[in-house]
Amino acid sequence: MLVLGIETSCDETGVALYDTAAGLVGHLLHSQVALHAEYGGVVPELASRDHVRRLLPLIRQLLDGHGHTLEQVGGIAYTQGPGLAGALLVGASVAASLGFALRIPVIGLHHLEGHLLSPLLADPAPRFPFVALLVSGGHTQLMRVGGVGDYDLLGETVDDAAGEAFDKTAKLLGLPYPGGPALSKLAEDGNPKRFKLPRPMLGSGDLNFSFAGLKTAVLTLAGNNTVDAQTRADIAAGFQQAAVDVLVAKSVQAMRDTGLGELVVAGGVGANRPLREALLARAQDEGFRVYFPPLDLCTDNGAMIAFAGALRLQDAKTRADALRLQPFGARARWDLEDLTSVSTA
Ligand code: KG4
Ligand code: ZN
Repeated sequence: MLVLGIETSCDETGVALYDTAAGLVGHLLHSQVALHAEYGGVVPELASRDHVRRLLPLIRQLLDGHGHTLEQVGGIAYTQGPGLAGALLVGASVAASLGFALRIPVIGLHHLEGHLLSPLLADPAPRFPFVALLVSGGHTQLMRVGGVGDYDLLGETVDDAAGEAFDKTAKLLGLPYPGGPALSKLAEDGNPKRFKLPRPMLGSGDLNFSFAGLKTAVLTLAGNNTVDAQTRADIAAGFQQAAVDVLVAKSVQAMRDTGLGELVVAGGVGANRPLREALLARAQDEGFRVYFPPLDLCTDNGAMIAFAGALRLQDAKTRADALRLQPFGARARWDLEDLTSVSTA
C-alpha cells in the first residue's frame, strides 16, 4: 500500500510517500523559516495560511516527481496534533477531503509518535523495546518504547523544552530564528569552559529535566558582559555544553534504569552535532547502541508521518476497520501516553 503522509503541525509543510513493501518513496518539505524570520518566531495565522498555499502543490510535486498518481495512494496519514490548531486543521482538511474523494482510509497521527518512530527509517534500525530521547521545540522526554503505541514516560522537562531553551537563548544572543541551529553554529567558535553555567537537575535522582534556569543564567551573563563577538560565541558554547551534558547524563541514567540496550534520539534537537557526538561516545563506554534518524528526518517532516501512518494502517484488520480510523480532527494538546498500541508482529 502506498501511504501519503502530511505534516502541518507548525512551521513546516511536509509530505511523503511510504510504500509498505518498498519503504520510503520520497518526501518534500517546505520550510516557513523565511516567512517567520522577521517576527523572531512562528506567527500561527501566517503559518496556517502558508500551509493552505503550499500543501496541495507540494503533494502534486511529490506524486509527479515519483511517477505516481493520487489514484495509486491507498491510505493517508496526517498529523492530528499536538501543534498549532489552525496549522493542524489545514493538514486534517486536506487529508480528510482526499480520503473522502478517493474512498481510502485516513488516519490522524500524534506528531511525537512520528518523531519517536522516525529512527526506524534508518538503516540499521533499532528494535523494540528501546529508550527514546525525544528532544524537540515543544518536548523533552525520555520514553520507554515497547512497540507502536506502547509508550511509557520515564521523565520529562518540568519547564522549557530543550529546543525551546536553544531558541530562547539564541534570541537573547541576538541570533535569528530558528535559534537552535544558529546557536549551535555560533558555538563552534566559542570556548565552552569560559563561563560556568548550571547543569539543572543533574543530581535530581530522577529522569526529569529543567532548562529554564539555564536560559536565565545566559540572560545574566549576556547582561553582565560587553557582548562582543567572542563573548557571544563563548556563551553559546557554554549553554550548548550544559544542555548536552544534562541530556546525555539523563539518557545514560535511563539506559541503566531500564536495562535496555538501545537508545533512539528523535526530534529537532537530535540534529545537534555535539549532542550526537557526546551520546555516541558515552554509548560506547556504557555498552549500549544509539540510533539517530537521518538528519533531514530529525526535524519536522512528512516522512515520519507517512511511516507511522503506514504501520498503523497496516494494523487495521480489514478495509472496513481502516476506513473507521479517525478521519478528521485537530488536537492542539494531546498526551502521547493516550495512544493505543498496535501489534507489529
Ligand atoms: O522536532 P522539531 O523540528 O519541531 C518540533 O516538533 O518542535 O524541533 C524543532 C526544534 C527547535 O527548537 C530548533 O531550534 C531545534 O529543534 N533544533 C536544534 C538544532 N536543529 C533544530 N537545536 C539545537 N541544535 C540543532 N542543530
Ligand atoms: Zn516536531
